Amino acid sequence: MSATPTEPGECPSPHGAAARRGPFRPGERVQLTDEKGRMNTITLTQGGAFHTHRGFLQHDTLIGATEGTILENTSGQLYQALRPLLSDFVLSMPRGAAVVYPKDAGQIVTMADIYPGARVVEAGVGSGALSISLLRAVGDSGYLHSFERREEFADIARGNVETIFGGPHPAWKITLGDFQEQVVEHEGPGSVDRVVLDMLAPWECLDAVAAVLAAGGVWISYVATVTQLSRTAEAIRADGRFTEPEAWESMVRGWHLEGLAVRPDHRMVAHTGFLLTTRRLADGAVGFTPKRRPSKAGFSEEDLNAWTPQAVGERDVSDKRLRRVARDAASTIQRGSLPPEEAQARRDAIADGGTVE
Ligand SMILES: C[S@@+](CC[C@H](N)C(=O)[O-])C[C@H]1O[C@@H](n2cnc3c(N)ncnc32)[C@H](O)[C@@H]1O
Repeated sequence: MSATPTEPGECPSPHGAAARRGPFRPGERVQLTDEKGRMNTITLTQGGAFHTHRGFLQHDTLIGATEGTILENTSGQLYQALRPLLSDFVLSMPRGAAVVYPKDAGQIVTMADIYPGARVVEAGVGSGALSISLLRAVGDSGYLHSFERREEFADIARGNVETIFGGPHPAWKITLGDFQEQVVEHEGPGSVDRVVLDMLAPWECLDAVAAVLAAGGVWISYVATVTQLSRTAEAIRADGRFTEPEAWESMVRGWHLEGLAVRPDHRMVAHTGFLLTTRRLADGAVGFTPKRRPSKAGFSEEDLNAWTPQAVGERDVSDKRLRRVARDAASTIQRGSLPPEEAQARRDAIADGGTVE
């Protein structure tokens, strides 16, 4: 006999859901949009005020108000007040490195088939943008173990994750160190459903991924350059423990909507990264050999160095700057609704004390 199905709304509320409903409360982040579409995100404090060069708005008029309210400031400027969506939050949160954009996070969650309850490992964490989408997808009953080699990034990510979920997430654990070494220490052979990598050299993790990923499990890599894409694909093919890799990119073009002037926006983010997926074969299964071998499968360090973020003009981020961003991310949590001691107690209570050591 099958169990009686639950009615919608009967299940316990997933983590962070209650905080996203009802009237605005002190400590919450609210996005104010003026009539010209300019956005500002504020954190509500009793007695606080949002100042611009054209008047100010008392936070107390927002506290207790319904989401979607339109309010007037002291100079008659109108503001529409809404809670930021995940995509708004990710694009405005403190960050130390390039984040995975919402368009790619959506592709990753869907194409890597991240489902509620899944056991997922991820590296690197960076600013935690992708971790947030992965946590949303695995839910409270799932498991996301994130690995990050730089402590400052781990701190920034923790600040951002705790801000959006209103405190530590019960499914999240973060470990400092190199993924390829740490994941095999912490996860049993074949125990992981999905592996998500966003780093410079995913091919260096091939043995570790093969060790922890369950047969049939999906490995998805996000890489910024063609050199990384080619090198990862050829390493997977040469290894033989995985299915033939598949790669793609996505481009999202906004549209201008005004009467009959409906046309694509003039500007767009034309390139973010490439996605590559493959699945773990059963032990002993022999992968299909591609009919045509690549003409040149060797890669040199020069190939890789030609496409690093620095080589293509992105600035390297100093440790000092990262520490400042981590302080910003932490101060945002402290202004949130959860007192720091309670947040720490919850972190300690989460499985294996899932915090940055
Ligand atoms: C581009 S960032 C990740 C951004 C992140 N996915 C986000 O959405 O915010 C790449 C990160 O990978 C980390 N990293 C690179 N190689 C690593 C490795 N082998 N193990 C763990 N972390 C690694 C870097 O320190 C960096 O923080």
